Amino acid sequence: MGKLHLFPEQASTLAPEVDHLLYFLVAVTVFFSLLIFFAIFFFAIKYRRRSAGELPHVQHTGYTLEILWSVIPFGITMVMFTWGAAVFFNAARPPKDAIQIYAVGKQWMWKLEHMEGLREINELHIPVGRAVRLTMTSEDVIHSFFVPAFRTKQDVVPGKYSTVWFQPTKTGKYHLFCAEYCGSRHSGMIGWVYVMEPQDYENWLSGGAGEGSLAQNGQKLFESLACNNCHKSDHSGRCPSLEGVYNSNVKLASGATVKADEAYIRESILNPEAKIVAGYEPVMPTFQGLVTEDQVLQLIEYVRSIGPKTPAGAAPTSPAPAEKQASPGSVPAKR
Ligand code: CUA
Repeated sequence: MGKLHLFPEQASTLAPEVDHLLYFLVAVTVFFSLLIFFAIFFFAIKYRRRSAGELPHVQHTGYTLEILWSVIPFGITMVMFTWGAAVFFNAARPPKDAIQIYAVGKQWMWKLEHMEGLREINELHIPVGRAVRLTMTSEDVIHSFFVPAFRTKQDVVPGKYSTVWFQPTKTGKYHLFCAEYCGSRHSGMIGWVYVMEPQDYENWLSGGAGEGSLAQNGQKLFESLACNNCHKSDHSGRCPSLEGVYNSNVKLASGATVKADEAYIRESILNPEAKIVAGYEPVMPTFQGLVTEDQVLQLIEYVRSIGPKTPAGAAPTSPAPAEKQASPGSVPAKR
């Protein structure tokens, strides 16, 4: 509308928080820049050399000034630190009731998968007013998921899961970028986030289903890869039962304990010998090269679906009960 936009639209709950912090940083910077700039001129004129042989007097002033110019900047930087840390923590902790969506970056596209089984490329449809948690990885090189209107940017790294969350506050269409140089067509790795009214979102979801949910596809894959021959649910198989494993603490043959999160499950599929569960033999073959990142996500989603019951669509971030936690190297206690 002919207006100059210094900032992208604010379309998430995080956007005003990030902007307010930035305004504060800019205000402090401008204030001190001007103060120093004018002080240089003022002192240069006031204490200029007035005659050829003039030498300045040595002046001894109190400590008051020195203490002030140490304490005030210290206070200001501490405000910046605590404020920034608060915004960061908020941005790093998805709420428990967030909608779970998976994202895979690939040269040069974003692939997004909804729990209900819907897949999108370079488009993400989400409802307004609901928190959305993205679990993301890359099939090749480092990409970065960037939605300026949400003030959200997160690197997507091969071999690792990163998460990001946002809660859109306005319906509309917002730019999605890759913000990490990832090859010759990096600039084309862009898309749109569509924020919809909840009812429109429901309609959109129900319109595209048919391939089965992510977890259902994971279960099919689990059976077609014959994982169920060893991972039997009644603990009679050669490999651990996977029921209730998700997000629990797993005791390893090495004596250590790990949390069965997405990264652990992914590693166990692609590099099964890395962490052997206590009491089991390293008999599982690797599935490296046999399953794509999308399929790994389906398998993880299946394991999550047979894990401890969480509210539908809840983010799997709740820590395991403290009594189940064992420190690495501790003697396994009978309970
Ligand atoms: Cu992907 Cu730049």
